[in-house]
Amino acid sequence: MIKPLRGMKDLTFEEAARFNYIIDIAAAIAKRYGYGYIETPILEETALFKRSVGDSSDIVSKEMYQFEDKGGNDVCMRPEGTAGVVRAFISAKLDRQPVKQKFYYYGPMFRYERPQKGRLREFHQFGCESFGEASVYEDFTIITMIAQIFEALGIGFNLKINSLGCPECMPPYRNNLVHFLKEIKEELCEDCNRRIGTNPIRVLDCKNETCQSLLKHSPKLIDNLCDTCDTDFRKLTSLLDDANIAYEVDTNLVRGLDYYNKTAFEFVSNEIGAQSAIAGGGRYDKLVEYLDGKPTPAVGFAIGIERIMELVNMPENTKEGYYMGAMVPEAVEKVIAIANAKRKSNKVTVEYASKGFKSHMKGVDKSNARYALLIGEDELANGTVWIKDMESKEEMTVTIDDL
Ligand code: HAM
Repeated sequence: MIKPLRGMKDLTFEEAARFNYIIDIAAAIAKRYGYGYIETPILEETALFKRSVGDSSDIVSKEMYQFEDKGGNDVCMRPEGTAGVVRAFISAKLDRQPVKQKFYYYGPMFRYERPQKGRLREFHQFGCESFGEASVYEDFTIITMIAQIFEALGIGFNLKINSLGCPECMPPYRNNLVHFLKEIKEELCEDCNRRIGTNPIRVLDCKNETCQSLLKHSPKLIDNLCDTCDTDFRKLTSLLDDANIAYEVDTNLVRGLDYYNKTAFEFVSNEIGAQSAIAGGGRYDKLVEYLDGKPTPAVGFAIGIERIMELVNMPENTKEGYYMGAMVPEAVEKVIAIANAKRKSNKVTVEYASKGFKSHMKGVDKSNARYALLIGEDELANGTVWIKDMESKEEMTVTIDDL
């Protein structure tokens, strides 16, 4: 029997309903904030992700579904959504228009990671990207929007925020950090040692406990921000305070993608185990320019749908529509004709096999229909149908013309 690939899953029945429920709520809220739907290809040139997510990131260096297509092009299944949306934004020349643009998207992402609970190789994100707004009010608004989505879904969270500075304050900080890291090099893990040369900032979120305890004394970017970044970060925290959105400043939060500057954030849940990040995002003011567009400030986020599916409680299904069936074979086609007419404005489940009353009533329960509609010998002879309202339990016989 052919099974799905490791780390990939089918979404069937209840799970698909849960998936759609989450997307519908997130999309409805995003629309209220002025976001419009965008869809970009799953397959893109590998260079797009190398340049945006970053050559030295784990995603690009270890986790890409990368291959040569039949035309010899180096292509890659998208590991995340931001790069493709930025490319689409530039391709459509929207970077040359003065208006601000906001997009939401959802769909599959691919990372060749070691599968475990909450970590898949094909997973889904719901994301938003806002272009053209440099104000920290937009960072605040995006965080508020995510909090609102989680509230609407009935999900609790902890919010972590940090500032990753800008091209003015990040490079001198990076030099300081490298200096500090070189002094404790011998005691740091192998990964951290490699990162000192490739991407020293990523050392800060090493999961190794020894490294973490050594890093307690590392210089913090938050204490070395330039005036603009410092003022914006203070503004963000005061806006969150005023809005009663609880947060923790995590100076080691650096995110696994290289395009961020200034605000970076992650929403975590303590109810789903080790893979606890349920959403992540931040500002990426240089990425449009870096991918050959006109300089455009931008900020965005993505929610991991599978992780949210673990947390969400679906509202109980209310009884809806009709279950229809025949109790004599000659009535089957009559039932089908009524069903087709009713489907113009109702949900209808039809049983094609002629069956006894009890057997049909089991079908009614399974289909969760509001009304049972059956045709037996008498009804067929009289041009009527028997109907039961499954909520009020009221039963009636009506003529087909009155339906
Ligand atoms: P990210 O933090 O890499 O950010 O992913 C966002 C979310 O996707 C994570 O918080 C997590 O819930 C989910 N996720 C990531 N990897 C997996 C996996 N292997 N299995 C299941 N769920 C996963 C980004 O992708 C950025 N593009 C977010 C962004 C948008 N930043 C600015 N705009």
